[in-house]
Amino acid sequence: MTNLKGKHIILGISGGIAAYKSAMLLRLFVKAGAEVQVVMTPNGKEFITPVTLSALSGKPVISEFFTANTGEWHSHVDLGLWADAMVIAPATASTLAKMATGVADNMLITTYLSAKAPVFVAPAMDLDMMAHPTTTRNLATLKADGVHIIEPATGELASHLTGRGRMEEPEKIAEALDAFFGRQQSLRGRKVLITAGPTYERIDPVRFIGNFSSGKMGYALAAEAARRGASVVLVSGPSALPDPAGDVTTIRIESAREMLAACEEHFADSDITIMSAAVADYAPAHPRDRKIKREHEDVPVMELVKNPDIAATLGARKRPGQILTGFALETDNEMANARQKLAKKNLDMIVLNSLADKGAGFGTDTNKVSIITTDTVTEVPLKSKTEVAGDILDRITELL
Ligand code: C5P
Repeated sequence: MTNLKGKHIILGISGGIAAYKSAMLLRLFVKAGAEVQVVMTPNGKEFITPVTLSALSGKPVISEFFTANTGEWHSHVDLGLWADAMVIAPATASTLAKMATGVADNMLITTYLSAKAPVFVAPAMDLDMMAHPTTTRNLATLKADGVHIIEPATGELASHLTGRGRMEEPEKIAEALDAFFGRQQSLRGRKVLITAGPTYERIDPVRFIGNFSSGKMGYALAAEAARRGASVVLVSGPSALPDPAGDVTTIRIESAREMLAACEEHFADSDITIMSAAVADYAPAHPRDRKIKREHEDVPVMELVKNPDIAATLGARKRPGQILTGFALETDNEMANARQKLAKKNLDMIVLNSLADKGAGFGTDTNKVSIITTDTVTEVPLKSKTEVAGDILDRITELL
């Protein structure tokens, strides 16, 4: 576990039986070279003593807003800025609920609300509490807020019942953090070019040929590549999404030709190029300067011209060491068509979107894809576009 060295970790402990395992987790973090600050809820202290934890971490445990005898204030804001990660293990049903709704009545929650770093929770509770719709809803809210859930295991619980709700073992939690920090570095120093969204091809000043692409997959790829340390250029067609945060230069264009021009400018420098835009295949040959008026002419006939194939154009210029990834959206003969495109456009990888599956494709927050190279196929089940972006970047990193 080399990626934890020198990392600042806040270990949040809430009040559950599994809190005794937090001492082991703390020990693993410290052994791997991390600096750990323990923050406990008042109930957490009923399950494991702060003395043990401060001895293991080498830092006084924080659980109150003030130190009682001196009045010294513990700044959750400073703590939130200091941390490279916050891990809440165990996270009880109550703590998850407070996190999901912002009930900031203890130091752990105020610290969570101030944390700028990624947050992980390892839920631990009895099986009925775990299965309750409230818990399911709160976990879904936290996940949507970007919190990483370290799923609980199934096994014997403190109640002696058997079911889902055991906090994941400390080794597994430490490994999850180690892998996370490893991924954070995986694209450091790399330049990544991404296309996203639809293109609009003007018919006249008020009308266009376009498609239903929202840009969500491309924006998720851009944000995830930046989180992994890459320097990203995102060339986006019309999309309602805000510019991704981090080291992402977002260039907004309208038509396929403009998208090609922006890509040509940045392709030579890029190590990784991902073409996730849904580029319009045709554009009106003679876009009008003035609005076409129904009253003034017969039903117009529109002549179309072929748009440039951006992926194929870049594919033809690809240098050894550059990785080029495309997307395919097919209605029939999916795999064969995707493979054909991989070869024809000189791509290294193609991501096949499913249109047949509910929750996949245009406009949704989730996707289900197959990641195809000349000799491998990786099936990615339905998950959030952010998670799918992570899987795609994992595969690309392996190719680098
Ligand atoms: O040929 P098809 O449109 O199915 O190929 C899809 C892939 O090619 C996507 O990666 C898409 O971004 C890219 N493409 C492109 N320029 C076009 C058409 C598609 O870059 N004109």
